[in-house]
Amino acid sequence: MKAKLEEVAQTYGIENWGAGYFSINKKGHLVVHPSEYDRRGADLMEILEDLQRRRIHTPLLLRFPQILVNQMKKLTGAFRSAIREFDYKGRYYGVFPMKVNPRREVVEEFLRAGRRYDFGIEVGSKPELYAALANEQSADSLMICNGFKDESYIRLALLGTELGKNVVIVIEKIGELETVIQLAQEIGVSPLLGIRVKLYSKGSGRWEKSGGESAKFGLTTSEILEVIRVLREHEMVDSLRLLHFHIGSQITSIKRVKNAIKEAARVYAKIRAMKINIDYLDVGGGLGVDYDGSRTSSESSVNYTVQEFANDVVYTIKSVCEDEDVPEPNIITESGRMLTSYHAVLVANIRAEIETVVGEYEAVKVDDNDPQVIVELKDLCMGINSKNYAEYYHDAIEHKDELYTLFNLGLISLEDRAKGEILFWEVCERTAKYAQNDKSMMEEYEELRQMLAAKYLCNFSIFRSLPDSWAIDQLFPIMPLHKLDKTPTELATLVDITCDSDGVIDKFVDLKDIKETLELHPFKGEPYFLGVFLVGAYQEVMGSGHNLFGPLNEAHIVIEDEGYLITKVVPGGTLGEAVETARYEQSALQEGFGELAAEQVKRGRLSAERANELCRQYESYVSCYTYLS
Ligand SMILES: Cc1ncc(COP(=O)(O)O)c(C=O)c1O
Repeated sequence: MKAKLEEVAQTYGIENWGAGYFSINKKGHLVVHPSEYDRRGADLMEILEDLQRRRIHTPLLLRFPQILVNQMKKLTGAFRSAIREFDYKGRYYGVFPMKVNPRREVVEEFLRAGRRYDFGIEVGSKPELYAALANEQSADSLMICNGFKDESYIRLALLGTELGKNVVIVIEKIGELETVIQLAQEIGVSPLLGIRVKLYSKGSGRWEKSGGESAKFGLTTSEILEVIRVLREHEMVDSLRLLHFHIGSQITSIKRVKNAIKEAARVYAKIRAMKINIDYLDVGGGLGVDYDGSRTSSESSVNYTVQEFANDVVYTIKSVCEDEDVPEPNIITESGRMLTSYHAVLVANIRAEIETVVGEYEAVKVDDNDPQVIVELKDLCMGINSKNYAEYYHDAIEHKDELYTLFNLGLISLEDRAKGEILFWEVCERTAKYAQNDKSMMEEYEELRQMLAAKYLCNFSIFRSLPDSWAIDQLFPIMPLHKLDKTPTELATLVDITCDSDGVIDKFVDLKDIKETLELHPFKGEPYFLGVFLVGAYQEVMGSGHNLFGPLNEAHIVIEDEGYLITKVVPGGTLGEAVETARYEQSALQEGFGELAAEQVKRGRLSAERANELCRQYESYVSCYTYLS
């Protein structure tokens, strides 16, 4: 059925969650743009065809580095504009928190394109620091070291100081301070130090517990005073340059942001008033992403814009500093989700529709010899109408229970059970049609709709590629990449290819609510591709190897005046690599297979020639992609 492109765009809410990066072209294909004002675009179906010619198949991850850079410009621009507007005296420094997406290409892109903004990096662990240290950074940019630290972490950070980088060691636990002082004196370097404060204020949304008095991280007020005392004692108080806080990711409400900034700015001002020259206030991450496009404080959204966030941070700090008569500090953000979410699109193909019942109602013949329960289900199908459908539906549920009881007692046959199931689902289908506009049936109808929804088998692993969808019910926008000039007439949920019943997506973004089914096109076996959007933050790094499904094929796309360039292709994980993650050695597996084959030859059950062929075939699987091909 032909459809207006605008109507289809509205069905999926592209304009709400897309931030101007996505649109539909005349062919009904999804297009990606490098920025919200740039009409250059790349047709995702053309990219898929190109990649298929290079034998790079779905599922795959498409990265758009221009979007990363554009998000960085947006964030930096927002702070620069707020600084101008409020005549703020300090500077703005962005740092990219590596934990959000530690992929080399992502980190390098931020440091390369971010040179002109003095964009730096934040690390939260020893391995992140190890990877980050060898990257070139602009002379003024920062390297913030958060996370719990042991002696070797601190030594590594001080290597960076000696290398001439602006490494700030943030004290997360009071015990770390002694090691820092001892190592700095031993090596003879003067470190830059920060302290993380435990705020009373909390964020909002899923990560609310990251803030507040019982948060895992941060120093209490008396611990801060103790740090200052110890530093003074060692004549190192001038090393203390930064105050840091982080009240959680995806803060959904701007009010919570303002409260936290107010409190942190006050702590800064009070420390400053103690004649300690802290000159950086690091407001952490938390700048949220509007995944469902509703612009509300619901868990998958935010009720503010990036500019509003920047304005509130700058204005609030300025007001507190004026009130306390202290200098305005340089402001650091550690935003990660906002910077990386939009740049990656997960593409998966639909493999099949999983049927609840297979069988045609018209083909079911019922006569007086059939069990009573079947006859009654057939009568319900025949007699259901717009007035009696609720009662008939309830009767059908009772008969279905009876059907299974009789089957379990051995009183009806498999054929009877099959007939009964087809008849029951026919009553459900008819009920759904009648109930569509009936308010009194709303709740039951929703359940029914869910039961009747098609289940599309999608070639990917939720545990590998969308862990937050499984673990914390995070919503991601999902839609087809083509056929968008046709009305999507099916309602479906998605199931992945893992052997895990949790591998299901049955919650979808909606402007007003959460949809329990997604509008899709009927699936008849032909290629059908879905995109999952805004997956560039946290998903890759937190994904796990459930069922040994490995990393996805990946392609990097740069959008040009005339089309696009595929600048890099990274093949996904192979079977050989997947088994190694579970500590199997490829060579040992091949040897083992060979020995079993030799044993069969010895027993005369296999010819030597066939055994060799089996071994060759087994070996060839080593380079096979872990997903369905
Ligand atoms: C200390 C710290 N900084 C920055 C971030 C990044 O936060 P977001 O991705 O919400 O911007 C995190 C993540 O939770 C964090 O723990």
